[in-house]
Amino acid sequence: MEENSRRGFMGKAFGAVAAVGAVGSLVAMKRTWDPLPSVKAAGFTTLDMSKYEEGVMVTEKWRGKPIFVLKKTLAIMAEEKDKPEAQARNIKVGDANFMIAIGLCTHLGCIPAFRNDLNDFKCACHGGEFTASGLVQKAPPPRGLDIPPFKINGNKLVLGEVGPEWQTMKDNGVTL
Ligand code: FES
Repeated sequence: MEENSRRGFMGKAFGAVAAVGAVGSLVAMKRTWDPLPSVKAAGFTTLDMSKYEEGVMVTEKWRGKPIFVLKKTLAIMAEEKDKPEAQARNIKVGDANFMIAIGLCTHLGCIPAFRNDLNDFKCACHGGEFTASGLVQKAPPPRGLDIPPFKINGNKLVLGEVGPEWQTMKDNGVTL
């Protein structure tokens, strides 16, 4: 009799532990399915621009496309100094300067690789090259890397929203 009620208690206790565990894993699963904190809503990706390191190329994602984000070093800025075409593509957030572009080669859509030692991008498919600002350095790409619509909001950058800086780039033919 006593043994029975003990077993009953153990059964309930085990059930309770299992239930807590199940809830825990559901929470964990939900966390896995939830979009990353950088993703605000469908079609928009918000990037915290304070997290990037100079000279380190990071690939983010927006609408399923790779987005290159490169916080420019002083050396890259010096290199662009007398190049209005490169400067027209520069994205300034606070005191920092960025190259942000859709990471798909404008020739046939391969993903170019960043070369740290040369501060440029090389497309393995047909040998096309882009500078650190996303301009064509070597054919066959017909134009520089496209710049996704963006809006600067303090230290944040919202991809998918059209801000005045991007609109100016588009109006001036800097990007498609
Ligand atoms: S797809 Fe990049 S060079 Fe052809």
